[in-house]
Amino acid sequence: MPCTVITGAFWGDEGKGKLISYLALKDKLDVCVRTGSVNAAHTVWIEGKRYALHMVPAAFVYEKCRLLIGVGSNVHVAQFLKEVEETNVKNRIGVDTQASIIEEKHSAQDKTSTHLKGLGTTGWGVGPAVEERVRRTAKLAKDIPELKAYLTDVAEETNGAIDAGKNVLLEGTQGLLLSLFHGTYPYVTSRDTSASAVCSEAGVGPTKIDDVLVVFKSFITRVGTGPFPGELTKEEAMKRGWFETAAGTGRDRRSAPFNFELAKKAVMINGATQAAVTKLDVLYPACRGTKSFDELPKEAKQFIMDVEKQTGVPVVLIGTGQEALDIIDRRK
Ligand code: IMP
Ligand code: MG
Repeated sequence: MPCTVITGAFWGDEGKGKLISYLALKDKLDVCVRTGSVNAAHTVWIEGKRYALHMVPAAFVYEKCRLLIGVGSNVHVAQFLKEVEETNVKNRIGVDTQASIIEEKHSAQDKTSTHLKGLGTTGWGVGPAVEERVRRTAKLAKDIPELKAYLTDVAEETNGAIDAGKNVLLEGTQGLLLSLFHGTYPYVTSRDTSASAVCSEAGVGPTKIDDVLVVFKSFITRVGTGPFPGELTKEEAMKRGWFETAAGTGRDRRSAPFNFELAKKAVMINGATQAAVTKLDVLYPACRGTKSFDELPKEAKQFIMDVEKQTGVPVVLIGTGQEALDIIDRRK
């Protein structure tokens, strides 16, 4: 902090939601700006309750945090209103006036296009909605009566908060390898997912960023089609306890061991200054719930040190369980 970008290293689902919820509570975040769209689900566990958020920033768990949806986002109005209700954030969430709107027709186009189906899209319609933005025919948040009460200038608010020295987090969604530019094209999403693009979607310039926190999971997962080095069979993934299903679509996630080359690429392109490693307890069950690095088993410590050595960035946060506060925090 004060201004940090959090971004995924691989194909999304690294556990950004959990880390954001931790940072919100621990650092008393003043502002959190969500980027990307409804295709990404951020999972947050708080006091035994699970949230899979497609629109509302994961920092909602800290009740004083101002929540914003950036100008580069695509807003699914029904999902937004549903989550605002569920998380009870009506009085502290804002949507940028010029954010784009995803309509039902976009989802229908996504689901019926053989090309998009072949890429294994989530079916929410984000690709077709982005196409419409590029064609300059998209509806914007300011055109939607239900959003009137939420409209704001996210860049103004966010830069104002940064200039006032407040704690600001820019919430990246998905992961670098799903990036339209840097990912495994054409098996990618419809936006750039790198830290620079997160800044752009929020309306914050690169000189305003103090830290870029790249999130690694202890093993790698991917949903949808496309290349996936080191992929395990579903049986092997289950045996190792790595088998997961997608928070958003419920689809099976494919899994593979941690990949240092991909981690290095993520650090480079995101300009990461810090890293987090999530789900260390899945790799080493003895870590579960641990809050101190010294208490980790030797192999687990060694894995973290290998990540630091190979990527050149410090691993400052380590996830050891599903709840927001199950974290080893090595900052300061
Ligand atoms: P789309 O973003 O729905 O167009 O899907 C394009 C590709 O990105 C597919 O492989 C999806 O499974 C993947 N994808 C999109 N959002 C996420 C996410 O939040 N987590 C993981 N994969 C995602
Ligand atoms: Mg997810």
